[in-house]
Amino acid sequence: MRILITGANRGIGRALFDAYSARGDAVTGTARKTGGLLPLDVTDPDSVRAMADAVGPAPLDLLVCNAGVYLDKGQPLPSGYPADMWAATFAANVTGVFLTVQALLPNLRIAKGRIAILSSIMASDTRAPGGSYIYRASKAAALNLGRNLAVDLKPDGIAVGIYHPGWVRTDMGGSGADIDMETSASGLMARFDALSPATTGCFEDYAGRAIPF
Ligand SMILES: NC(=O)c1ccc[n+]([C@@H]2O[C@H](COP(=O)([O-])OP(=O)(O)OC[C@H]3O[C@@H](n4cnc5c(N)ncnc54)[C@H](OP(=O)(O)O)[C@@H]3O)[C@@H](O)[C@H]2O)c1
Repeated sequence: MRILITGANRGIGRALFDAYSARGDAVTGTARKTGGLLPLDVTDPDSVRAMADAVGPAPLDLLVCNAGVYLDKGQPLPSGYPADMWAATFAANVTGVFLTVQALLPNLRIAKGRIAILSSIMASDTRAPGGSYIYRASKAAALNLGRNLAVDLKPDGIAVGIYHPGWVRTDMGGSGADIDMETSASGLMARFDALSPATTGCFEDYAGRAIPF
């Protein structure tokens, strides 16, 4: 498979990159501060255009929109959550996903490829324990984006899935999280393999459990 993963320099993106490489897939990883990977800052439209130019017209079987930020962890409700934090989070977690998908649509169309969006269980309106307002809202927006892209891209044979990777021991998830990156990545890979036009628009976790919207 020909695969592109955003934010592949560390965390879940890196684990996915390593596992796909080991499986023998043709995987391109992107990173803000390259380190041998394809440069991409998803918040910068020029950077997204340059990434798409570098990819060229090659068919793409799977796009993994993994890059994301969680800037408002632990913010206090009365005085926290400043406007610039909302803007920076939405630029990465929502606009960044949209711009990446839009830029690589021609490549996905040729291959009738798949799009995997890393959202979070924190996007769920059913499970709403409070707190982390910015991150939750951004991941809910990413879920909404994925659900609507699934409808628009169905006629092209492009399937779109939205995923919760589990609570994963990364810089973002922290050392007390439930599962390691490798467990998350292998579970996600099985879910991405199973994604098809019949299941497009799904919202599920790394183990295939459906998440209520
Ligand atoms: N860990 C969890 O428990 C958990 C749970 C639910 C959902 N998720 C989601 O899963 C995805 C990966 O999470 P993670 O735990 O691996 O996070 P992480 O360890 O913090 O890594 C985030 C990755 O995204 C990249 N990134 C951030 N902003 C970017 C930008 N503007 N342009 C390009 N790349 C950017 C980072 O690059 P830099 O190194 O340059 O910062 C890094 O490679 C995220 O979307 C996250 O919201 C994670």
